[in-house]
Amino acid sequence: MTASALIEARAIVRRDARTAAQLLRPTDFSLAAGERVVVTGPSGSGKSVFLRALALLDPLDGGQLFWHGRGVERSTIPRYRRSVAYVRQRPSLVDGTVEDNLRYPYTLGVYRHAHFDRDRALSLIRATGRGDDFLDKRASDLSGGEAQVTALVRVLQLEPEALLLDEPTASLDPDSARAIEKLVCAWYETDRTARACIWVSHDPEQAERVAQRRLVMRAGALAASGEVDA
Ligand SMILES: Nc1ncnc2c1ncn2[C@@H]1O[C@H](COP(=O)(O)OP(=O)(O)O)[C@@H](O)[C@H]1O
Ligand SMILES: [Mg+2]
Repeated sequence: MTASALIEARAIVRRDARTAAQLLRPTDFSLAAGERVVVTGPSGSGKSVFLRALALLDPLDGGQLFWHGRGVERSTIPRYRRSVAYVRQRPSLVDGTVEDNLRYPYTLGVYRHAHFDRDRALSLIRATGRGDDFLDKRASDLSGGEAQVTALVRVLQLEPEALLLDEPTASLDPDSARAIEKLVCAWYETDRTARACIWVSHDPEQAERVAQRRLVMRAGALAASGEVDA
């Protein structure tokens, strides 16, 4: 295990609860601080299963996760989940304005000690080229791209260490996709020695822009696919 590994997975497995079939075969994976990784692979190959397992959103059926070199135990899962954020392709927003959505996490127990910082939220929104009035938009009126910006700002304001991005731009137009990339890049550049991300992407050009290391998922098995030129 490398000293700087932010997340390390050792032989993690996910199974179909009904049939016990392996959705994710025993997988070793390490994400170092500062690293940006892209995962490609056919639809249904297990990319989402892998990211959700890494985020501990679904229980592991084998293997173990290490976080800064320590095994993640039941008692550290809440802190782990705050640090390792999963972003889905189709965001789910609550009724109300963009600001209501950004304030929402602070109503949850795990963030009871944190406070909504309007200026920080606005600086993230400005990084996507949007004005301050974006906060007042109704969630129900947002385009797909705007909804994803909102979902991502909602996560980034909480300053996670690692972002697990599950095809966050797959259903967006190119301009919206670039806005999302800019936002992730701004978050990463703020502290590139400590932060890391994994993108699941089907767009080879995006893969080159957002990552240095490329992995391929096939039938639940993860493999390296050579280095992408930075
Ligand atoms: N919780 C689950 N229970 C059973 N099967 C699942 C579960 N989640 C995903 N699968 C199946 O695992 C396979 C991989 O799914 P997924 O990771 O979503 O693929 P993708 O690479 O497109 O993201 C698919 O066949 C999917 O139907
Ligand atoms: Mg998927």
